[in-house]
Amino acid sequence: MTKQLSFEIEAGAICAVEEAAIGAFAHVGLGDEMQADRAAIAHMHAVLAELAMSGHVVFGEGDEYESALLFDGEKLGQGGLECDIALDALEGTTLAAKAMQNALSVIAISPKGGLLRVPDIYMDKIAIGPNFPQGIIDLDKSTKENIEAVANYKGVAPNRIGVCVLDRPRHADLIAELREIGARVYLIPDGDVAGVIFTTEPSADVDLYMGIGGAPEGVLAAAALACVGGQFQGRMVVKSESDKAKLRQSGIEDYAKKYDLQDLISGEVIFAACGVTDGSFVKGVRHYYNGTETHVLLLRSNPKIRRVVNTMRLNGHE
Ligand code: FBP
Repeated sequence: MTKQLSFEIEAGAICAVEEAAIGAFAHVGLGDEMQADRAAIAHMHAVLAELAMSGHVVFGEGDEYESALLFDGEKLGQGGLECDIALDALEGTTLAAKAMQNALSVIAISPKGGLLRVPDIYMDKIAIGPNFPQGIIDLDKSTKENIEAVANYKGVAPNRIGVCVLDRPRHADLIAELREIGARVYLIPDGDVAGVIFTTEPSADVDLYMGIGGAPEGVLAAAALACVGGQFQGRMVVKSESDKAKLRQSGIEDYAKKYDLQDLISGEVIFAACGVTDGSFVKGVRHYYNGTETHVLLLRSNPKIRRVVNTMRLNGHE
């Protein structure tokens, strides 16, 4: 595969999430989700607008009425390679407002056509990290079958299998079932992009991610897995006529389709996530007497790269 995404675009992706995280950090712990989100959006937009590419936000911060910047369909950049951009300037708005762990600023960039456009509705998801045989998990299998398949492959009892799940009432049955099987359930209050990434981190003791979260977050998480070799399946959760209308608007006619990772991410991709608050795989923003420090998880599918970028923005002299 010929590499198309330049190092300039890679550097731009890193800078975009760093700036967004710094913007959001000013509001960490202040209890105002909207202010934190707005600051992240404005900071990320300023970077993306200057990048040497013809960017198209396939999904971002909602439609033009919801957000004047980084809205779905916005064209960004100074010209160059046509790129799809998927982003969440602040993933985990509540986490940031409450100064809880794992609030991130996230972006995925792919050459045009590489990212599936999905609306902001729910998606049922299952994901597993690298080093498992293709097809070991399946959204259409029962929870028991999926856990047993992973436990058998690893040659361990189900109580050695860790599953990350969003702590929501809608997951009560799933959580009960997992505990009945004997799997370890890692409940997270928010932020299922991070939840999926945990499956790729050997130190996290999380083998699988399961449950229902946002569809855009599903595609962003799939972009991360596309770089490190994990598996992901998702299916839209259609609860209303309005969900159907949103799907049609995104060009999706088959509401019940089971999406594999390759359906969501079909091209070369760069994924970058910057810690706003401290997290399991990147630290949050830190202000020191001499500058501001950030940590970004940078993943690329071609060449396959996992890098943590630690940057210090030094204060200037007056
Ligand atoms: P926001 O950043 O938009 O607040 O989303 C946080 C999040 O936890 C996502 O990671 C997840 O996909 C979604 O919300 C779950 O939605 P809900 O809170 O409605 O269960």
